[in-house]
Amino acid sequence: MAMFCRSTAFLIKSTRSVPLPYTFAAARKYSAGEQYQHILVDKKGEQGNVGFIQLNRPKALNALCDALMTEVGRALDAFEADGEIGAIVITGSERAFAAGADIKEMQNRTFQECYGGNFLAHWNRISTVKKPVIAAVNGFALGGGCELAMMCDVIYAGEKAQFGQPEILLGTIPGAGGTQRLTRAVGKSLAMEMVLTGDRITAQEAKQSGLVSKIYPVDQLVQEAVRCGEKIAGNSKLVSAMAKEAVNSAFELSLAEGNRLEKRLFHATFATDDRKEGMTAFVEKRKANFEDK
Ligand code: HXC
Repeated sequence: MAMFCRSTAFLIKSTRSVPLPYTFAAARKYSAGEQYQHILVDKKGEQGNVGFIQLNRPKALNALCDALMTEVGRALDAFEADGEIGAIVITGSERAFAAGADIKEMQNRTFQECYGGNFLAHWNRISTVKKPVIAAVNGFALGGGCELAMMCDVIYAGEKAQFGQPEILLGTIPGAGGTQRLTRAVGKSLAMEMVLTGDRITAQEAKQSGLVSKIYPVDQLVQEAVRCGEKIAGNSKLVSAMAKEAVNSAFELSLAEGNRLEKRLFHATFATDDRKEGMTAFVEKRKANFEDK
């Protein structure tokens, strides 16, 4: 069954004469052509410039089965190719962002299948998207769910969110970047403790340790993530991609190499119309009108 997102607010819109909260004002069905079974896909924000993906397997706490992750990849491809979209928000439900990779699907897999078929390699798509991606995490973000959030560029958490890498309790280890991204985000001691014990941390501990940047009340989280997406989408998409590339290089390059890349990208912004427009707008005391070129 096709499950396009027609947010409740969108439906209410047609029956109300007063304006809705702005984040939902421009909500609309994303694409007449695409059909998804395990996710809801939409465009949010006043300008409809924030791509929105909601994981939607509530009965399995959004366990990340293969089909769901394939759909996430397809939705990301569509947003990446859509010139209107300047940022993407990924969220789950209030109970669970995602409780991990689907254990029932993995239960009987063999090493030969995993290694031979490069099991779960396609998850990487989230970390290769050029447009900024914000994870809005309510509830459980466990195992692959925590890893999925960490593949995003910004993590906002609801105040009841819980993060964990409990794979050790299943006799396995994180396999989608958990040992690497978590360690870079929170440092060795806490990452090691989480990976070796399977213990979870709260939203507050995640904020304190640098895993998430902001915490919001559960019912405001998605709206705030979309608001952040709107801010990002209001800037030059071209230059945002360069900024994202530069920050991400900090995780892969030495300081000298990273600084060199940053300088080259900084120089490259001077080849764009948007850099010229941004500085001219400042001097002329007006708002910049970026055209992504
Ligand atoms: C498949 C899952 C699931 C998962 C929950 N469910 N997590 N199904 N895979 N990861 C299903 C349950 O089987 C159950 O379905 C339903 O969701 C509700 O879950 P309950 O356990 O009844 O809920 P609750 O008691 O509230 O406990 C919530 C929970 C627990 C603490 C999140 O479900 C849990 O510990 N889940 C597993 C978390 C985990 O180990 N994640 C890491 C997975 S490995 P039924 O039909 O039985 O009622 C991983 C590796 C990644 O992610 C490697 C690289 C990608």
